[in-house]
Amino acid sequence: MCGIVGGVTNKDITTLLLEGLNHLEYRGYDSSGLIVLSKNNIFDRARSVGKVKNLEDNLKARDNKIKGNIGIAHTRWATHGEPTINNAHPHISMNSVSLVHNGIIENYVELKNDQLTKGYTFASETDTEVIAHAIDFAMKSCSTLISSVQLAIKSFSGSYGLGIISSKYPDQIIAARKGSPLVIGVGVNGNYIASDQMALLSVTKEFIFLEEGDIAEIKIDKITIYDLDGNLVDRPIKTSNLKPGQTDLGNYDHFMQKEIFEQPQAIRDTLESRITNDSVLISAFGDKAEEIVSRIKQVQIIACGTSYNAGLVAKYWLEDIAKIPCNVEVASEYRYRHPILLNNTLFITLSQSGETADTVEALKTAKKINNNISTLCITNSAESSLTRLSDLIFLTHAGPEIGVASTKSFTTQLVSLALLTCSIGKIKQVINKKQEREIVDGLKRLPGLINEALLQETQIKKLAIRFKTKNSALFLGRGTMHAIAMEGALKLKEISYIHAEAYPAGELKHGPIALIDKDMPVIAIAPNDELLEKLKSNLQEVKSRGSQMIVFEDENSKVQELEAMEVIPITSNLGRITAPIIFTIPLQLLSYHVALIKETDVDKPRNLAKSVTVE
Ligand code: F6R
Repeated sequence: MCGIVGGVTNKDITTLLLEGLNHLEYRGYDSSGLIVLSKNNIFDRARSVGKVKNLEDNLKARDNKIKGNIGIAHTRWATHGEPTINNAHPHISMNSVSLVHNGIIENYVELKNDQLTKGYTFASETDTEVIAHAIDFAMKSCSTLISSVQLAIKSFSGSYGLGIISSKYPDQIIAARKGSPLVIGVGVNGNYIASDQMALLSVTKEFIFLEEGDIAEIKIDKITIYDLDGNLVDRPIKTSNLKPGQTDLGNYDHFMQKEIFEQPQAIRDTLESRITNDSVLISAFGDKAEEIVSRIKQVQIIACGTSYNAGLVAKYWLEDIAKIPCNVEVASEYRYRHPILLNNTLFITLSQSGETADTVEALKTAKKINNNISTLCITNSAESSLTRLSDLIFLTHAGPEIGVASTKSFTTQLVSLALLTCSIGKIKQVINKKQEREIVDGLKRLPGLINEALLQETQIKKLAIRFKTKNSALFLGRGTMHAIAMEGALKLKEISYIHAEAYPAGELKHGPIALIDKDMPVIAIAPNDELLEKLKSNLQEVKSRGSQMIVFEDENSKVQELEAMEVIPITSNLGRITAPIIFTIPLQLLSYHVALIKETDVDKPRNLAKSVTVE
């Protein structure tokens, strides 16, 4: 949700700013811009509407003459103000301050009215411009740039990740974070800032992760950090284990495609050192996991989007296998109602990024409601707001996910939740050694099973053509497959812009069946489980209303025998844990191929951004 990059070096910074923006484009791509301090400490800025490519073309058209040793850049996901040049960052105040911002200043109207009376004029409709003016105003009474930022920031309510430069202080960048991620890259020939380490891997592997409220003064050879209260603090430098190539496309056409095919390895990595030959290691959830889990009496899962769908699958597992009550809710609702949180609740947040604003706020809300709860976050991001706020941390080890539509994050979250289910079941003594071994065997088979499911791509590609002229689709499943149907519908919506809904197959006759006609493709998931016969009856009901049906089945489900349905066998004889993970694969492939046919931007679908760090 907006990407920031900046740096102060002894070389020209423009190339790095552009390279960084390309790596951050997953965070937003409505417009982008950069600014440097050129030779005589004059701001030189370029901004373009649309993708970073447009900014690159803009710079080329200016013979790449924008050059300087210090600069900041931004790729935007619009919140306040449409994606226009004027609203694109960086913003400037009085030719003295320029900044890029990720987050929302909630009291910007009040600040703007006050600044208008002080003679400031506004070039944009954004909430961000007030920050630039507030810093410029503070500079009149402060002797350093950092003290001006510290003073100005006191007047903001909302969230911010900020990169700030000033023509009056040409040797430094000020970075500040509250509610939006920001890292400092520690280099040899300079120091840098970015919303995400990926933007800086070509210049450094050493990072300082700013904490909530931190403000840093970054010079070419010195980094000074203050906490929210203005105390000088020492934050550790950590070495990233990300490799630059991990974020390249390689031989794939799209990141989403690459990430779908990376799932076998991502799952191997998630399982590594978390299981033995026949058991799950509870300690994988942290040193205190055993003690915490033995105390808990119920589980509350909070997440958004795809991560929420993973939570829905886990509810079935936790209640069915680990015999522990479980509620699942979307974070944006949970944070604003007044939920009852009992003592001995394990409060789980699920999030690829670890930075989703609603999820972070829901966790904070929960802690306020009942400080006796224990918290666990399952995330793909080791250094994130959620990891900092949680008692237990479980990293999914999916590797960088760049495609905006989540794929490998979802399946690795499911694997993590399966490990949790097994751990809770063990501690509560509701699963025995044999059941544990079966779960572990199933998890170990997953990479191979996914590879087999991926072999159906050619057939799925042919089916995708049917969606070219369709406006809606319905996904059906029962039990955990309802959650998988929801994930399938979400994927199709996101990247092909076809309206899609998911229903528990048994619920259809209570209303949605009215939608069925020949123009409404219905996609059903038919594992060979205890609900199969019920599902088959539901499918008959749909078929007799003239729908075009596509069924992904377990070979032993024998849906093939029903007429007028396109049935694709995906697998055979899967268990309660492996089945939902494997049936996810054909749905990912289907939405990917429909998107290709519809010629949408698969990795950067319209209106979306990967990490939703604003409300
Ligand atoms: C869908 C998708 C989003 C995210 C949601 C939560 O493909 O990617 O729905 O799942 O924005 O993001 P995280 O998991 O980072 O909290």
